[in-house]
Amino acid sequence: MITLAKANQKHSARASAARIITEVLQQHRSLNGMLTKTLPRLAENERSLCQQLCYGVLRWQPRLQAIANQLIKKPLKNKDGDIKALLLCGLYQLQDMRIPEHAALSETVNACKTLGKPWATGLINASLRNYQRNKNLLEDKINQQPSAKYAHPEWLINQYKQDWPENWQAILEANNQQPPMMLRTNQQHGSREQYLIQLQQANIAAQAIAQTSEGVLLESPCDVYQLPGFSDGDVSVQDGAAQLVADLLDLQPNQRILDACAAPGGKTCHILETYPNNNVVALDIEPLRLQSITQNTERLKLKATLIAADASDINSWWDGNKFDRILIDAPCSGTGVIRRHPDIKVLRRPQDITDLVKKQQQLLESLWPLLNTGGLLIYTTCSALKQENELQITTFLQDHPEAQEQTAIKPPASRATIGYQRLPGDDNLDGFYYVCLRHS
Ligand SMILES: C[S@@+](CC[C@H](N)C(=O)[O-])C[C@H]1O[C@@H](n2cnc3c(N)ncnc32)[C@H](O)[C@@H]1O
Repeated sequence: MITLAKANQKHSARASAARIITEVLQQHRSLNGMLTKTLPRLAENERSLCQQLCYGVLRWQPRLQAIANQLIKKPLKNKDGDIKALLLCGLYQLQDMRIPEHAALSETVNACKTLGKPWATGLINASLRNYQRNKNLLEDKINQQPSAKYAHPEWLINQYKQDWPENWQAILEANNQQPPMMLRTNQQHGSREQYLIQLQQANIAAQAIAQTSEGVLLESPCDVYQLPGFSDGDVSVQDGAAQLVADLLDLQPNQRILDACAAPGGKTCHILETYPNNNVVALDIEPLRLQSITQNTERLKLKATLIAADASDINSWWDGNKFDRILIDAPCSGTGVIRRHPDIKVLRRPQDITDLVKKQQQLLESLWPLLNTGGLLIYTTCSALKQENELQITTFLQDHPEAQEQTAIKPPASRATIGYQRLPGDDNLDGFYYVCLRHS
């Protein structure tokens, strides 16, 4: 029988982080998915460290890997990916975490045994000590490589450079920051000012997000269940940039609205909080992700019609009734939200951008005919790449003379050739693209 102590040891924070990072790097699994699966198996006091290690290592992976390559002369085999990842965890602790160095070192070395690979203790110990002794020299050396210097894959650095010759360094820097926690207060439950008072009474430091009407920025992240009224639906977690989408929809009562790429439902719920009796059809291609919309609508006591379908295959789901508003919050590269999803740095490939641009185009082409005359289609992405944003819409407008950009409502974002762009970190918000098209 395995004792509890032994079971916990098997799931220690560092060993679990090494396993999760290996799955992301080798099997291309998403960090969020892996954490959701793994964290509940850890003792409560190990969870936060495991999470910090995973986020930190993936945020700095191109840099940490370049250092690791200097430290390990003979490359490790793929089956020892967990040891490679553990070394990155060790380096990250020494570089960025407030753990005493001796504890970081000995606990990381011990994790080799937890991973069932005691043979690696000497290797990890020697590599981390070598790093401690030669830190400056090693860092100077790797700073010659752009991917290590900026901690991004080279193709992405070049893409940002091409699209934003004056802002690319600021974008890379913003992508490497830890993101703040932001909330959307539920306008059906009271004003943002009232909620700020509730937060103050709960000793949670916060301020209004000036660019939004319902957004709140927390000084430090916290567990959602510590937030006053979270379970009762008074508030949801959502970046301020995403909150700007609902305003663009120019919502009115008695509208029929399609949220075509809806999971996990952040914008669906915001749309319904504005007018709870509107008829909202929320679609997503991933049935599992659709469940998260149900959780959100239930907590907020809102009602939408949920459908699991490929939105661009309209014959599989459409009932023939047109919509007054269509939101396409398109699947995209996520290059505007890397600070929140640092695994994008290692998961995304250049070819993905071409594939995503095609999918986005399919969604636009298939859903446009479902819009009523005079209706609005809002296309948004959390991408900072022009191909997915202004270039995508420029092509669409060339092929659709009956579509015009509507600029009556201007989001607080920079004007693009078509639409509006926020770059990552502008006003401390996520990177986002917005455009509003009217059907004449
Ligand atoms: C950017 S996320 C949407 C975020 C969501 N709007 C929110 O505010 O919470 C894009 C979503 O599009 C979904 N998706 C991708 N391709 C799709 C398609 N062809 N039809 C419907 N949904 C799709 C993905 O599963 C993903 O959940």
